[in-house]
Amino acid sequence: MTGSEGRTKPPVVAIVGATGAVGVEMIGCLERRRFPLAQLRLYASSRSAGKQLEFQGESLGVRELTESSFEGVDIALFSAGSATSKRFAPLAVRAGATVIDNSSAFRMDPQVPLVIPEINPQALRGHHGIIANPNCTAIISITPLWPIHQANRIVRLLIASYQSASGAGAAAMEELRESTRAFLEGRPYQQRVLPHPYAFNVFSHNTHIDPASGYNEEEIKVREETRKIFADPQLRVSATCIRVPVLRAHSVAITFECERPIAAEEVRRLVSGAAGVKLVDDRERNYFPMPRDASGGDPILVGRIRQDVSDPSGRSIALFVAGDQLLKGAALNAVQIAEAL
Ligand code: A2P
Repeated sequence: MTGSEGRTKPPVVAIVGATGAVGVEMIGCLERRRFPLAQLRLYASSRSAGKQLEFQGESLGVRELTESSFEGVDIALFSAGSATSKRFAPLAVRAGATVIDNSSAFRMDPQVPLVIPEINPQALRGHHGIIANPNCTAIISITPLWPIHQANRIVRLLIASYQSASGAGAAAMEELRESTRAFLEGRPYQQRVLPHPYAFNVFSHNTHIDPASGYNEEEIKVREETRKIFADPQLRVSATCIRVPVLRAHSVAITFECERPIAAEEVRRLVSGAAGVKLVDDRERNYFPMPRDASGGDPILVGRIRQDVSDPSGRSIALFVAGDQLLKGAALNAVQIAEAL
């Protein structure tokens, strides 16, 4: 362990990528959760230097991130992309800070804990200065599954995601708004952020496809990160990740197979007591998790819990979840890690 632990004074906290979709939510989470801090420093690229952002009723100036930005910083929350994390996180650690990194840069490094506080807070022990925040689709999919996995080990997991614009950053959210407006007004629109027309469309996740397996990077992240967080390298996972025209909450259709038979009623009971999760499973009203209901809220919504009738052994369950990608999928999980430190 390095840096901020064992501290008696409130920490100096820095946000790297403070002007981004996740960075802004990090500021909001620190404020809303009354995170005890001595000072908050906001960093972004030179493009944003001098911009003002609100924190606790005060206006804070955004500074350009430089190699000397981490002097006196105890906790640095990074959400400015992998390249920035790779370059600046080691500098922050050298300056004495503990880094909580929202990018994929260090997630699969065996020296770096990959943490969902509801699942594996013990992994924080023995970190070497960098803690990784998992992929948003992984967080939203597996947080509700943890109590089930503990009661009756999940051996196989099939997921199909319906991912929002926010996962690709503030510019992608703007592209969704703008292209929808253009579509409705009958104007042409040339997309700049995502590879395909976004308004009234659905397309395969915009990450590189591994030519050998046909899986894209997002799908591979979900598989590998789930295995690491559950500390279960044998877990069989197959994901299909899809971008849908939703602003900020991911939904996921999940089917899982347990070691032993499991009833839908037991899953409902396990999920309803789970931390960070809310049951929304009203068959009479046909009311189930929706990204609109999940947006802006902390809990991951879980419903449509039913026996998977294609598995006659009774060991498989199907369900549907929706969670705010910017909150539990990113900023909130990072702030919860900071709290756990
Ligand atoms: P900026 O707004 O100045 O470009 P998003 O994920 O919503 O696209 O946000 C990315 C965040 O990362 C923004 O705050 C962005 O700042 C920041 N960022 C991008 N590149 C750099 C960089 N080279 N150095 C520091 N911050 C960066």
